[in-house]
Amino acid sequence: MMLTESMRAEIRAAMARYPEGRQRSAVLPAIYIIQREFGYCPVEAQNELAAMLDLEPAEVGAVVGFYNMFHEEPKGEYHIEVCTNVPCMLRGAGQCMDHLEEKLGVHHGEKTEDGQFALDHMECLGACGNAPMVSVTEQKTGRIRYFEEMHTEADVDKFLAVLKNGHGFVSIERWTPAADPDGVGKPAGPWTVGGMETRYLTGRVEKPASHQIDSYLADGGYATAQQVVTAMQPTEVVEAIKASGLRGRGGAGFPTGVKWGFLAPAKPRYLVINADESEPGTFKDRIIMEYDPHQLIEGIIISAFAIESEQAYIYIRGEYYFAATRLMDAIEEAKAKGYLGKGIFGTDKNLEIVVHRGAGAYECGEETALLTSLEGYRGHPRMKPPFPAVAGLYAKPTIVNNVESICNVPHIMKHGVDWYKGYGTEKSTGIRIFCLSGNVKRPGLYELPHATPLRDLIYTYGGGPEREDAAIKAVCPGGLSMKLLTADQLDTPLDYEAVAAAGSLLGSAGIFVIDERASMVEVARRTVAFYREESCGKCTPCREGTGWLESILERIEAGEGRTKDLALMEHITKFIAGKSFCPFGDAAVWGLQSSLAKFRGEYIELIQKTNPDEEAPALPIRPIYRPDTGAPSTLHDSTLAPVGESPLNRDVVVAGD
Ligand code: FES
Repeated sequence: MMLTESMRAEIRAAMARYPEGRQRSAVLPAIYIIQREFGYCPVEAQNELAAMLDLEPAEVGAVVGFYNMFHEEPKGEYHIEVCTNVPCMLRGAGQCMDHLEEKLGVHHGEKTEDGQFALDHMECLGACGNAPMVSVTEQKTGRIRYFEEMHTEADVDKFLAVLKNGHGFVSIERWTPAADPDGVGKPAGPWTVGGMETRYLTGRVEKPASHQIDSYLADGGYATAQQVVTAMQPTEVVEAIKASGLRGRGGAGFPTGVKWGFLAPAKPRYLVINADESEPGTFKDRIIMEYDPHQLIEGIIISAFAIESEQAYIYIRGEYYFAATRLMDAIEEAKAKGYLGKGIFGTDKNLEIVVHRGAGAYECGEETALLTSLEGYRGHPRMKPPFPAVAGLYAKPTIVNNVESICNVPHIMKHGVDWYKGYGTEKSTGIRIFCLSGNVKRPGLYELPHATPLRDLIYTYGGGPEREDAAIKAVCPGGLSMKLLTADQLDTPLDYEAVAAAGSLLGSAGIFVIDERASMVEVARRTVAFYREESCGKCTPCREGTGWLESILERIEAGEGRTKDLALMEHITKFIAGKSFCPFGDAAVWGLQSSLAKFRGEYIELIQKTNPDEEAPALPIRPIYRPDTGAPSTLHDSTLAPVGESPLNRDVVVAGD
């Protein structure tokens, strides 16, 4: 028997958090317990868990195999993961990875001989404004801490020293080299936010103890929820949110109140908060959950009241360990005050909130995949219709809303619909947290009205380009999925309609700036590599096509590209966009399509420089390390898989030629 009695008790407690007959939902929490205990997920323990959950062993194995954060072999005492996604790449993630490899004497995917450190690269950690970003998982506790702003080799040295001297986990709050000059593991506290003079969504996050209920109450917190729950009808709240024009902040921009109005009459109903925040370039929900969790809880209380739900779930990405602990503590504080639980605010209304950690799967940001994951399965999307409002979690009517969307609700109910509509435009009402990252002087979060010009965000708030001698070349306006804008589009107002008119989408308002030092070929490769890595595998176009595109881009970077590769890539993208079960296919190729259209000359220049005779590529096409081709690079290729280890080690062009 591998599962001890105390582990079984913990797993049973996790099972009890989900409705009768829905204990399968505890599979992710239970696997976390197993991994924390053993450092990985031994098959025997998986089998014993399957028996506890009344599942087949293969069902648990399928879940372990799907999520990136679960491991089937032991990692090091400290599992170090370096984010190499585009916003971090633009700020020097490659140098950070290189230096770590040199200092530890291992490459990615390996661990040190003493078993102390395992090193991997990984995709966006939701902290792009503080790039380059590293996360570390402490094996013996399962805790995760973010180590941020690894700009120089000295910063990386300091980070390693803090891990080695045992101070790495004195706290799980974020750490930066600048905030900890003595190397004692001192937390950095919240990062700087800015924007309009009075900030509503982010106005409290820099206050001392802003996450605690006393601080929230001192600022008038929960008064709006009390007023709504004790003196209003649910339909009044739904109508107010509809009238405000609030649109979902997760990326799709669907009107929140309209979505609530779609709910089928059946009960029970569920409210699910999408806190998966995995779109690269996006890092706004995290700061609310870490530094103002009661704002979210108050929003949940009002929203659950409006849709007549007594059970809410916060599905939070697994890497947001600190945010999850802050939320769980805040829920207990709110319960103790009678704002959650049975008979909230002295009424006959009940509300429970469960925090449910994902385990590393971008696809779970899609609402049906999120629900599938919450039910204890691999995070695959479902066919729509039926939409979740009709048959969602456990086939019951369910509303899935993003964290920032829900945080707007108390402010709208407090200040009124007219106040809210006073910001933004007719169709893009209200305020927005813009996430600014990449090559700007002051990356960060800026709370501003919709329709603020992109130029203002970058220059007035972000301080302009990172370096005076490197002009802005491109901007991604809505997260990695979105089409790129060019430098002559900086006057685009940041609202849904204007960004769409400019040829892209506002998405999650994850905006990253690319300056002329960056290779657009490399940016494109990093982009499609992310989608190749994160494809849930359900649809062939995403699963296979993204790998083909990555391989072609690698080949171009390696000096084996041909001009006709550009047409080939465009051809492949047409068979991915719109051809998958969920919007993932579009997201996977929009960035590349826009890059090929707007920066084609850069691709051609690189091909002509590195393969002037357009020679056919040698096999295999996937390089161990990039040959010295003279190709511009902002990221070392040490993150590429060695030849022979990669499932993509093949010449995808044979069929296309
Ligand atoms: Fe690295 Fe987002 S944290 S790209």
